[in-house]
Amino acid sequence: MSKPTREHDIFDLRLSRSAGDLWPMLHQLYGAHPDFVQMQSDLLAEMRKAWTQRPADLKTLDLRRDLEPDWFQRPDMVGYVFYIDRFAGDIKGIHDKLDYLESLGVTYVHLMPCLKPRPGDSDGGYSVMDYRKVNPAYGSMKDLQDLAAALRARGISLCVDMVLNHTAKEHDWAKKAVKGDLAYQDMYLMFDDDRLPKAYEETLIEIFPDNAPGSFTYYEGLDKWVWTTFNEHQWDLNWANPRVFLEIAKIMMFLANKGVDVLRLDAVAFMWKRMGTRCQSEPEVHVILRALRAVTRVVAASVLHLEEAIVGPSEMLTYFGRGEHDGREGNLAYHNNLMVQFWSALATRDTAMMTHVMRTHFPELLTNATYATYIRCHDDIGWAITDEDAGAMHLSGFAHRAFLSDFYEGVFPGTFARGALFQVNEETGDKRISGSFASLAGLERAQSEGDHAGIALAVQRILLGNALIASFGGVPLIYMGDEIALTNDYGYLKVPEHAHDSRWVHRPMMDWDRQAAAETGTGPAAQVLQGTRHIYARRKATPQIHSGHPTRILDSAQPSVFAFARMAPTGNLVCLFNFSETWQHLPLDWLRDQGVVHFHDALSDAAVMIDNDTYSLPPYGRVWMT
Ligand code: GLC
Ligand code: GLC
Repeated sequence: MSKPTREHDIFDLRLSRSAGDLWPMLHQLYGAHPDFVQMQSDLLAEMRKAWTQRPADLKTLDLRRDLEPDWFQRPDMVGYVFYIDRFAGDIKGIHDKLDYLESLGVTYVHLMPCLKPRPGDSDGGYSVMDYRKVNPAYGSMKDLQDLAAALRARGISLCVDMVLNHTAKEHDWAKKAVKGDLAYQDMYLMFDDDRLPKAYEETLIEIFPDNAPGSFTYYEGLDKWVWTTFNEHQWDLNWANPRVFLEIAKIMMFLANKGVDVLRLDAVAFMWKRMGTRCQSEPEVHVILRALRAVTRVVAASVLHLEEAIVGPSEMLTYFGRGEHDGREGNLAYHNNLMVQFWSALATRDTAMMTHVMRTHFPELLTNATYATYIRCHDDIGWAITDEDAGAMHLSGFAHRAFLSDFYEGVFPGTFARGALFQVNEETGDKRISGSFASLAGLERAQSEGDHAGIALAVQRILLGNALIASFGGVPLIYMGDEIALTNDYGYLKVPEHAHDSRWVHRPMMDWDRQAAAETGTGPAAQVLQGTRHIYARRKATPQIHSGHPTRILDSAQPSVFAFARMAPTGNLVCLFNFSETWQHLPLDWLRDQGVVHFHDALSDAAVMIDNDTYSLPPYGRVWMT
């Protein structure tokens, strides 16, 4: 008899904890909408229902994480991101790979889009036609649930994509809209003629200018213009309609109850439209995301939100909640600026801009949140460097971005990289870049030229990147295949659904033969695999890396050396990274001033070698000094 009451108590307590994040936000967004009152009571009923249905083991996890709210900020958090089919064939096949993932220290996996996509080109699964079904090529919802349980038993969290800016045009809602159902038409953004679309387009930025130009699509049968920010088959949802909020919230609760730990909220910047703007990162986006966060926090307190907003430095922070939303929005957001600055510093051998950007735009500490740090992912690299930040370095922003594109495409004289252009915007001249970590870091070119010194340097660049994202603060994400230095896969050009999208160049099949050989071998793949594994093992053994400790950017004594201190109560961990192929010398006094006491490197777990009052960092060397 007492149990159900207790359960209701917990729900009510959680609801009152998050009430201020939910109802006032919904009121701001939808207060004037005729369906508002109804929507609120429907939402509350759905939340209670989802809580009642939540499996007991997940409720226990909720309590555990409520008691240990820093669980995702700890040094043992290491993520791995992969395509189910390219990694393991299907969901069942993943079970056989769990020992391997554990051997890398992985405690978090992100399955690339796994919900049922539209047939044919689905933007890598980001065009979803049914959120309650798994892609039949990968298995069933039951398989996903079983996988979640197997992962949980090993202490590994499961991250799944929640695409909430758009659905596939084959989604049930879209089909009903096409049939003329006005309620469903109102879930999307549809226009009777092109006057408004044209007016919006004045200030919109095209996302896929090459293969999906414009941001609207005209459909003859429907005789309407539909907002399609990304591809034609991805219809933007109308978040000004409370029904959209309700339906998406229901899906999120559904996935949480299947055992998903982290919801990766896709392309969130685009969710709110306002005439005369880029329609990116509008203030309402944060109001929506705060309210969605509250829903999850009440019903499934153990679940985190990872917000995907690949934007400039000052804009990025807003996804953790700024001002009144501080600490109440994303628990995680991608640190694309750290990623961009890594590649920029690697090309220029100069860390001044990286130091400037990291120090001026990012606080030393975030509230209830941390970064997802990464060097490569499934998407292209957009050079998110503002004219102002380039200007502070006496560079032209446009010229520097163009230089980076040429460098990583592999056409700039003397470059070590090989990559592929992605979506060149003729209007702005901006070019994005595709390419695998290993190829962009120089391995492919050096191997094809039989350049042994170049191969060795490429390996060191890859390990430099891993040591950086492992220590900066955040959850470091290993992108599938990068740990065995997979180079670009040009085979995508022969696949009709992929040929138009160069991002497939860095979405290869996992090469298990290469991995097996790398376990015992000594070549570049072996050095990268063993080195990566070592870095993440050392991360786990280094308590100063906890994301709850501030990250203070330091002015290093050498322009090629990026430096920061992780300021733990037990003393600073001073992390140094040499972005050049020459030795860099740092005075011991400078290190002492930053708080180095023991001259012990936590990364190699050895004393650092000191000579004549200087410490010398080898080419692409990295240390975490105490
Ligand atoms: C996200 C995904 C990207 C996709 C886009 C549209 O940014 O990372 O791969 O193309 O959303 O869904
Ligand atoms: C743009 C978007 C980002 C998306 C990418 C797709 O950079 O801002 O959300 O991932 O395009 O390649």
